Amino acid sequence: MAGSIIGGLVKSGHPADFITAADPYPASLEKLAAIAPVRICERNAEAAAGADIVVLAVKPQVMAEATASIATAVQASGAVALSIAAGVTISSMQARLGEQAAIVRCMPNTPALLGCGASALYANKQATRQQRAYSEAILEAVGVVSWVPSEQALDAITALSGSGPAYFFLFMEAMVEAGIKLGLDRETASLMTIQTALGASRMAQENNLELAELRRRVTSPGGTTERAVASFQQNELNAIVLQAMQAAADRAVEMAREMG
Ligand SMILES: NC(=O)c1ccc[n+]([C@@H]2O[C@H](COP(=O)([O-])OP(=O)(O)OC[C@H]3O[C@@H](n4cnc5c(N)ncnc54)[C@H](OP(=O)(O)O)[C@@H]3O)[C@@H](O)[C@H]2O)c1
Repeated sequence: MAGSIIGGLVKSGHPADFITAADPYPASLEKLAAIAPVRICERNAEAAAGADIVVLAVKPQVMAEATASIATAVQASGAVALSIAAGVTISSMQARLGEQAAIVRCMPNTPALLGCGASALYANKQATRQQRAYSEAILEAVGVVSWVPSEQALDAITALSGSGPAYFFLFMEAMVEAGIKLGLDRETASLMTIQTALGASRMAQENNLELAELRRRVTSPGGTTERAVASFQQNELNAIVLQAMQAAADRAVEMAREMG
């Protein structure tokens, strides 16, 4: 994720030498430096010293250690800490960075690795308008960004866009398998499914219309699509989706609790 963010920032015109990457492992640093000529260092505290914004792009399990390593630097500079780790709460970060620390918590998703992510952000009260703008610009380098009004809303975001790519893969898998049962070969069924998903997504993005209206426009009365949509509705597709997303949101709450 750090590499994707660096790549996205530099591509969108941010000077590479304004960015310092820190990682305890030289091999990981070399990989980041190969993306763009950023400054690199092995010590987090050194990278954080004098920074305006410190992006914490580590696994949740090492977040406590990473946060502790930048605490002194962040307290001295008043930098905002931007975490992209799932399930790490603002209060657990504040316990290490101090009550005055400006913290932005972000829930990105995997397509960010291709520059088409969907990230939701929540800032604590200590974060200034400028720090929020910096955070937004960083995530905009890898896709679209949306602010949520409460930290709790990030659990719903986790259930929607965080886990969402897997839902679409699952639906596409089902379409491929159904296509095969209807007589297509796997290659054709996969090609048609993936391109249909991309085409539908681009239509939704580029037309300023409600999703239901887009659906109506491709559903001729008495036609094939109408028959399929009716079958989905009889089988309570909306209830199935709600139940799955509720389960994901509940798990996000549980995982945050497990991580303390
Ligand atoms: N990948 C995704 O699609 C995705 C989506 C949503 C959210 N996220 C969140 O984004 C975060 C990063 O995920 P990722 O997939 O980019 O993980 P990753 O590939 O493991 O990257 C984490 C990096 O942090 C380094 N690191 C480990 N300990 C450190 C420390 N104490 N100080 C500084 N750097 C340290 C790791 O070094 P080594 O590799 O050398 O150990 C690694 O280079 C995670 O919290 C994840 O939950 C990821």
